Amino acid sequence: MFYLTTAIDYTNGSPHIGHAYEKVLADVIVRYRRLRGDEAFFLTGVDQHGQKVQQTAEQEGVNPATFVKRTTKKFLNLWEQLGVEYDGWAETIDPRHKACVQSILSTLKQQGQLYKHAHSGHYSVRQEQFLSDRDRDESGNFGPEWGEVVEIEEDNWYFKLSEHTAWLKSYLDATPDAVTPAFRKAELLNALERNSGTDLCISRPKERLRWGIEIPFDTDFVTYVWFDALINYISFAGYHAAPDAGLPDFTRLWGGDERPVHIIGKDILVPAHGIYWLCMLHAMGFPDAQMPRLLVHGWWNIRGEKMSKSIGNIVDPNQLADRFGVEALRYYLVRDIVTGKDSDFDVERLIMLYNTELANELGNLCNRALNMSQRFTEGMLQRGGSFTEDDLALQSSLIQSTTAYRTAMDEFDVSKALEALSRHIVHCNRYTDRMQPWDLNKDPEKKDRLATVLYHLAESVAHAAVLLSPILPDAAAKLAGQLNLPNLTNIRLPDLRWGLIPEGHTIGKPKPVFPKIIVEEPSP
Ligand code: MSP
Repeated sequence: MFYLTTAIDYTNGSPHIGHAYEKVLADVIVRYRRLRGDEAFFLTGVDQHGQKVQQTAEQEGVNPATFVKRTTKKFLNLWEQLGVEYDGWAETIDPRHKACVQSILSTLKQQGQLYKHAHSGHYSVRQEQFLSDRDRDESGNFGPEWGEVVEIEEDNWYFKLSEHTAWLKSYLDATPDAVTPAFRKAELLNALERNSGTDLCISRPKERLRWGIEIPFDTDFVTYVWFDALINYISFAGYHAAPDAGLPDFTRLWGGDERPVHIIGKDILVPAHGIYWLCMLHAMGFPDAQMPRLLVHGWWNIRGEKMSKSIGNIVDPNQLADRFGVEALRYYLVRDIVTGKDSDFDVERLIMLYNTELANELGNLCNRALNMSQRFTEGMLQRGGSFTEDDLALQSSLIQSTTAYRTAMDEFDVSKALEALSRHIVHCNRYTDRMQPWDLNKDPEKKDRLATVLYHLAESVAHAAVLLSPILPDAAAKLAGQLNLPNLTNIRLPDLRWGLIPEGHTIGKPKPVFPKIIVEEPSP
């Protein structure tokens, strides 16, 4: 079973384009794995506890429970709008999650992994963590990234993180695919080198934070939001769940023949996922073979700058989907970024990429293949017998593109996969220009040749629909409908070969699937 999760989004605000990217990427990868024929389970959700939520709720004058219900709805609506289809939904206020977090805390305490300790020091309100001298900048100050820093002294519960860091280093050294891309693993190892001696404070006194999961053996405290949130990956996968909890059977998702994959942004690799989470799992007794793989994506920026409320440059995915359509947005989000690297979000490029690759190239191919078949052969397609060099070159272009697509998708590089598909579409349009089916149609002697050419084009559309289906499921279904091949969307990659369209098959009514985005010129 392929078990894929994403980060769970903070519910202290509204979803932006960065959140949308991560979920669409995960959705595309899961759909692709199903296309490969694999069984897959996709979990995503929201992170509802913590100081940020408590503070924002206070500012808005509502209680945190009401507040998170409201913001959670925004995420749920967006995923529905964007066609993000998950199998499990994680909300950290769910009592089933709370029970799991508390049972893990109690077990770790019994095993001597937790201890209580008084600590005085500097605390970052924004990052919800104590700071050490290592967090100071060159001039000895805590930089603006920490927000407000206050001095406090308090008792807290600690997790013996330092007992697991030697193991973590050896695990990372021995496991090439523990973190993707590789340069992020190097970053993690560096951080580990600097941080291996400290334990992790996992509680917050209730005077300071009420909005969290109570520490079961010391009720003056709640659980630190990261310790709570990270556990979602196993709690909603059925770890320690009652059989009637309505959660999956944990052993099916975790610990089978494939390790789980967590998709996260670059900002939450160190220390949260790369150090805390892997050490927490190790402390809970998870063996190396069951450690999740971390797939770390980059960020969407705006003209090189981070998106932020204070700069006021947040891009709203709802507005973009309304304006350009869901499929145009999904396409752009995975096309104009290399998984692992950052990219600049640019509406002009969204329009350009959609118009060039979908409306012009693929749209043109569909239009030619389907319309000409309709007009010249009454929609009937025949495979033909003798292939010319051009036909064989087209068939081989399709094989090459499909192979490159698969390799790229297996490496989570959706942009490269789409590029490979585009190469074949461009090849098909050039083939059409050379074959000139409109001329072949004028000569009754060339009917067979015409049929062969049209078949090559329609067959390419069918393959394109299959390969595009993880990224653009609606467009793929529409193309399958127009080809009159309703079962096309059930095809699995191992069965994808030349001849999807049966001999003598009649296609349906063609209709443009990728209407060009027309941008109104501002009036002078
Ligand atoms: N709640 C934590 C994650 C807990 S996981 C156990 C959190 N939430 S977040 O809402 O701030 O971020 C959620 C995800 O969105 C993270 O993976 C983060 O990297 C990603 N992104 C936030 N801004 C982003 C961009 N501008 N671009 C791409 N992804 C970005 O962190």
